[in-house]
Amino acid sequence: MKQVRVGIVGFGTVGRATADIIVKHSDLIERRSGVKLVVTAVCRRQAIDPADVPAGARVTTGWKELLTAADVDVIVETMGGIEHSLQLLRGALEHGKPVVTANKKLLAEHGDELFALAVARNLPIGFEASVAGGIPILRVIQESTAGDRLRALHGILNGTSNYILTQMENRGIDFDEALSEAQKAGYAEADPTFDIDGQDARDKLCILARMAFGGRLAVERIPTHGIRDVRAVDIRSAQRLKRTIRLVASAEQTDNGLDVSVRPWLVDRRSMLAKVEDVNNAVFLIGDRLGTQMFYGRGAGGDATGAAVVSDLVEIARDLAAGRLSGKNVVGFLESRELEIAPEPKPAGWYLRLTVNDERGIIARVAEILSREGMNIDSVQQEPHSPKTRLSLFFTVEPVSEPKVRSAIEKINAFEFMVEPVLLLRIE
Ligand code: HSE
Repeated sequence: MKQVRVGIVGFGTVGRATADIIVKHSDLIERRSGVKLVVTAVCRRQAIDPADVPAGARVTTGWKELLTAADVDVIVETMGGIEHSLQLLRGALEHGKPVVTANKKLLAEHGDELFALAVARNLPIGFEASVAGGIPILRVIQESTAGDRLRALHGILNGTSNYILTQMENRGIDFDEALSEAQKAGYAEADPTFDIDGQDARDKLCILARMAFGGRLAVERIPTHGIRDVRAVDIRSAQRLKRTIRLVASAEQTDNGLDVSVRPWLVDRRSMLAKVEDVNNAVFLIGDRLGTQMFYGRGAGGDATGAAVVSDLVEIARDLAAGRLSGKNVVGFLESRELEIAPEPKPAGWYLRLTVNDERGIIARVAEILSREGMNIDSVQQEPHSPKTRLSLFFTVEPVSEPKVRSAIEKINAFEFMVEPVLLLRIE
C-alpha cells in the first residue's frame, strides 16, 4: 500500500489545519515515509467552506458512514466533546480502522477502555496532539525517557490561559479582551471555561502523569483551580514582587504519594516558567538520571496541533504500508495499579489577595490570624490608589501546608470588612 486514505471527522480549526498540512506537505511526507497521505472524506455537522476541502475529498455530515467507508483507511477525530467522539473511536477500532485523536478530555476520561480496545484489535490510537499541541511530549515520555525513572513533571499546558496571563501583563489589557483574542486565534476550547477554569490543563496533566508514573488516575482526583479570579491588581502585585503568574500543572512523586494539582502559581520573573509566554506551552520532566529536561513550543492553535496529528498519521501510514500495524502498550493506561495521591500537598509559600472595605486595624487583625495559624508573613502590600470600598491588600507567607493556609482564609473570609473571598495563589 503506497497511498493511505484519511477521513477527518470534525472540520474546525484543527481538522482544517490537518487537511491543509496533508495537502501542502504531501511530497515531503511521501519522500520521508514512502507513503502518500490523501484526504478522501471530511465530516462536519455545520456548513464547510468548499475552499477548505482538499481536492477530491467528499464532504459528509454524518461520521457513522466513515466507519465502514471503503475509501477511508484511517480516521482522524478532531471534533472534541465526549459523546460522539467516544462512539467514533470505539466504532473505528471495532471496524478495524486505526484512529488519531486530539481529544485529551476523551482520553483522560475513557483512555482505559479505548487503549484496551485498541490492543484487543491490534490497532494504534495516535494521540500526540492531545497534550501540549505541537510539543512531541508523549513520544518523549513513552520512548525517549523510557530508560529513566521519572520523579516529577510540571508545566504550562493550557495555551489560552497562558495567552491571557501574558497579554494582561505585557499589554495591560483585561481578562475578557485577552480571552476573546485567544478565541479568535483558535486557541480556546469550544467552551472556554475549560481553559480558564483549569480542566483542559487537568486532562492533559492526567494523561502525562499516567504515562510518566505508570498507573491509573481519575481526573476528578486532581485538585484544579483556574485563572478566572486573577485580576490586573494581582498581575501588578506580582510585578512588585519581581514575579509573574502562570497556570501550572504539576505532579511529583513524594514519600506520601503523588503531589498533583493544577493551579495558578506566582513564579520568579527570571524563571523558565515565566519565560513561557503567549500561547506557548512547556513541560519539565525530572528524572533520576536525566535530571531536568524542558520541552517548549506552541501549545494550541490549528497549525501546531495539526502538525502533531499529521505526525501520528505518518507513523500509522508507514506501519500500514509495511503491514505491521499494531496496538501499542500505552504505559499507565493498560494497568490496574492506581497512582496513590499524597493526602496533603507539600508545604509551599502562598500569596493572599484580600479585597476589603477599608477601616482601621485590618492588617493587624489579618496578621494576628496568620500568626495564630502558624504562618510567618513574608510581605505585605497595598494596591496604590485603590478605592476605599474595594481596597486590595496582599500578603505573602513563608512555606506552610495548604490546610493551614486554608484554615486561616476561612477565618479571614468571615471578617465583616471582606468584600469578596480571599484569592490564594501558590508561590513557586
Ligand atoms: N484549548 C487548548 C489550549 C488547546 O488553550 O491550550 C487545545 O488543547
